[in-house]
Amino acid sequence: MSESTIGIIMNGASGRMGYRQHLLRSILAIREQGGVLLSDGSRVQVEPILVGRSEAKLKELAERHDIADYTTDLDAALADDHWQIYADFLVTKARVPALKKAIAAGKAIYTEKPTAESFEDALELARLAKEAGIKNGVVHDKLYLPGLRKLKRLIDSGFFGRILSVRGEFGYWVFEGDWQPAQRPSWNYRSEDGGGIIVDMFPHWNYVLENLFGRVKTVYAQTATEIPERVDENGDAYTATADDAAYAVFQLDGGVTAQLNSSWTTRVNRDELVEFQVDGTHGSAVVGLFGCKIQPRNATPKPVWNPDIPDTHDYDADWIEVPDNEVFENGFKVQWEEFLRHVLEDAPNEYDFLSGARGVLLAEEGLKSAASGQRIELPAVSI
Ligand SMILES: NC(=O)c1ccc[n+]([C@@H]2O[C@H](COP(=O)([O-])OP(=O)(O)OC[C@H]3O[C@@H](n4cnc5c(N)ncnc54)[C@H](O)[C@@H]3O)[C@@H](O)[C@H]2O)c1
Repeated sequence: MSESTIGIIMNGASGRMGYRQHLLRSILAIREQGGVLLSDGSRVQVEPILVGRSEAKLKELAERHDIADYTTDLDAALADDHWQIYADFLVTKARVPALKKAIAAGKAIYTEKPTAESFEDALELARLAKEAGIKNGVVHDKLYLPGLRKLKRLIDSGFFGRILSVRGEFGYWVFEGDWQPAQRPSWNYRSEDGGGIIVDMFPHWNYVLENLFGRVKTVYAQTATEIPERVDENGDAYTATADDAAYAVFQLDGGVTAQLNSSWTTRVNRDELVEFQVDGTHGSAVVGLFGCKIQPRNATPKPVWNPDIPDTHDYDADWIEVPDNEVFENGFKVQWEEFLRHVLEDAPNEYDFLSGARGVLLAEEGLKSAASGQRIELPAVSI
């Protein structure tokens, strides 16, 4: 049995991300293993309290997972010292007021991205958290995907030589909701409700690019609302006001060009829902959520462009699969454990509100670029 516990307020625990990734795959998995392991070999058990708007939903979840505490009264939970961490998985629109309350209550905070709908709000959160001296973290889950971990290993080993470019395809078909239910919540397709693929995905692209390749210096983006009308959870038609596809080019510190397509209106002809190709002078890699294959320069074929002769070369066969060489756990859980160690024993954490604010800035400037048709320079961000 563990000797100590840490209480975690989980706000929005019944939502898609709150339930599946944060409660089920992270906190309950950590509870199941006896708590988070600290550097001295001891464990601290996690104790969640579920917070939301529907008492019936919370009660059902709490009973299903043997969780003692739940409440619809966020203020009361924040006022109780038993709960040391506030975690936020609300719809983006509801996040800033909730985070401000948690900062005022002096809680350590862990939150989904984007931290806010505007850069101004995101930066203010970072400033308020710093002034209050509270520990803060933002989900950076893509960095923990096995494919991206293997990519990081390749970069650290010097495999690529000089990295030239990154090309990424993210997306899949999100059903319109009429003849088949949509597989994402309808607020994602209404900009007035915090939706849009730029707001959703550019915070991810920002931390992926800056942590693996270099700070994003400029952004050029073109957006589209390919499906103008969708059908919501209640079967009612609504106007899709937000972008559901974004085609973007980023220039990075160090000279790498990244070109990333994000789309909820494309049909998958790839191995995985996200795929990045990284080309370097000494080798190239193609990585997805799980997979990672490489082609070193010594094994690069020499294609010759000739439209008169059918090309029979098997290009897929030119790639070598990179082995796992380690056990990759769920990325949300791994980052939760890192954040818990940050709170409990001051372990380092770079993925804080300021990093979150840089992601919101990229989204905001991406939308401005799409509206103006111009490439936009991003300032270095500080509090
Ligand atoms: N890290 C990732 O890969 C990833 C993926 C998807 C979504 N997200 C982020 O997670 C967050 C939640 O997204 P989701 O897909 O789980 O959405 P969701 O709609 O499934 O869940 C949202 C939760 O917020 C609650 N909520 C809705 N409106 C509210 C309001 N006005 N006040 C208080 N609570 C309210 C809902 O009851 C629900 O519990 C978003 O900020 C989104 O950007 C992150």
